[in-house]
Amino acid sequence: MPKIIDKGAEARLLGSTFLGVDVVIKDRVRKNYRIEEIDSSIRKERTRSEARIMCAASACGARVPLVLWVGSSVLVLTRIYGAMLNRLVEGGRADGQDLFGIMSDAGRQLALLHRNGIVHGDYTTANIIVDRQHKAWIIDFGLGELTSSLESRAVDVLLMKRSVSAALYSCFLESYLSSRGYDDADKVVARLADIERRGRYQKRTLG
Ligand SMILES: Nc1ncnc2c1ncn2[C@@H]1O[C@H](COP(=O)(O)OP(=O)(O)O)[C@@H](O)[C@H]1O
Ligand SMILES: [Mg+2]
Repeated sequence: MPKIIDKGAEARLLGSTFLGVDVVIKDRVRKNYRIEEIDSSIRKERTRSEARIMCAASACGARVPLVLWVGSSVLVLTRIYGAMLNRLVEGGRADGQDLFGIMSDAGRQLALLHRNGIVHGDYTTANIIVDRQHKAWIIDFGLGELTSSLESRAVDVLLMKRSVSAALYSCFLESYLSSRGYDDADKVVARLADIERRGRYQKRTLG
């Protein structure tokens, strides 16, 4: 019997096995406040979009769960065992050295996605699982996009910046900037600075 392992904003996650492999079933549940037909088409579209992006990410060699099956509101993904990065960062459960290595890995993974035209859309420590070998696995492509937009890529970097300390961020950024075969990183970081400037400007004008 599948067991609920987690509940997200729009989906429940069930643990099960499929073809002899440990999997999670990401089941987007019905929202009662939406008209039924609209609700089911939204769930279907998001499920398909997430599957498409995760498959693209796998194809370029990024460390993401494999998509084993796609239903109308259900994805079956290989299950990754480990700890969520946000818990490791908050709880101090990994020592400093490990966290720096993991953040570099997260930076490399993001550069690999961006180099291949994939934007994650919610690249925070809450969407990274760290396995026993201290490798970062990227999950939750529900807000992802296949785009080369500099602005969207900059937002990925910005979300990570906001989710960790300055020291961890600098480690992440250094590896994002120095990833092989990815030449746009400087432009992305320049755009990020623009976004932050705009943010400050808005705050000022809003008083
Ligand atoms: N492939 C996976 N392997 C193990 N756990 C997973 C996997 N996918 C999701 N989870 C767990 O389920 C939680 C919610 O999944 P996520 O895809 O982030 O959904 P949501 O879009 O609701 O945030 C994650 O934080 C993680 O704990
Ligand atoms: Mg999530």
